[in-house]
Amino acid sequence: MSKLVISGIKPTGDVHIGNYFGAIKQFVDFQNNNADFENRYFIADLHALTSVSDREALSRSILDIVKTYIAVGLDPDKVTIFKQSDIPEVTELAWIFNCLTTMPQLMRAHSFKDAEAKNKEVSVGLFDYPVLMAADILIHNAHMVPVGKDQKQHIEIAREIARKFNNTFGETFIEPQEYIVEAVETVPGTDGQKMSKSYGNVISLFASKEEITKAVMGIPTDSAAVEDSKNPDENNIYKIHKLFLSTDEDQTVRAKYLNGGMGYKEAKDMCIESIENFIAPIREKYNSISDEQVKDILKAGKEKIRPHIEKQMELIRKAVGTSL
Ligand code: TRP
Repeated sequence: MSKLVISGIKPTGDVHIGNYFGAIKQFVDFQNNNADFENRYFIADLHALTSVSDREALSRSILDIVKTYIAVGLDPDKVTIFKQSDIPEVTELAWIFNCLTTMPQLMRAHSFKDAEAKNKEVSVGLFDYPVLMAADILIHNAHMVPVGKDQKQHIEIAREIARKFNNTFGETFIEPQEYIVEAVETVPGTDGQKMSKSYGNVISLFASKEEITKAVMGIPTDSAAVEDSKNPDENNIYKIHKLFLSTDEDQTVRAKYLNGGMGYKEAKDMCIESIENFIAPIREKYNSISDEQVKDILKAGKEKIRPHIEKQMELIRKAVGTSL
């Protein structure tokens, strides 16, 4: 049996470079470097419903994520790309898991605690988010889940649920492992905080040259003079810039900061150029994919995956006793 990798992205708006470096890049690396794994990547549209209630925005966003997957290098001939809601069995499985999961267990989840701390009204769906996520992973019996650092706890909860189910109903699920690239630091936004749509500090993965320029020019700087030596590791232009640099280029850019003689205008211009060089081909590919092509990709993914899911779900129903 080949090993299985699964992961998903919640379609909640523009994909930004933080999403790319934090998670999606790892999907592409997995596809390219691990021939012994079968890869499945999905669009977590049911999860998006915990925060999106605009039907057009959701549909648009689903199409956008698939285009993103393709534009950054996922190849639908090598990996399966599908939509979460095309596997409605995950909601059935989430229900079964709900009956094994306790309230205190979910009250410890960061996603719930954050929402509470912000005094947000927490829907049952948001509270249950980690359980649906466990169902997403476990229904495939996946071994590995490439995710950004912020999802680590969710994978831990998936393991706890797998263990609880196995102890209760007999050995059924593999305990999945997260795959997190520790070396990837949190991608900073243009204001120095973590890049996040909710902070309004993002650079879209499909930004035009003008948008990139506007975002980078907006990075606040201190009053150091052109001739001053500057510490790159404390500089927000550099922290964003370095994501786009090879090791050699990085050495050159660091030296420019440290040696003095480079003002922030020049630093920003270099940063803009690196981002534009990186984004331009992605943007072009993204714009070349039609909505119809996306629908075909999702349909093919669904057809490929459904037989596996039906078989697996039947085993689970037998294990709990709902299938006679
Ligand atoms: N929670 C993930 C995100 O915020 C999306 C997601 C849903 C997911 N189900 C998953 C990721 C299962 C990995 C595995 O983007």
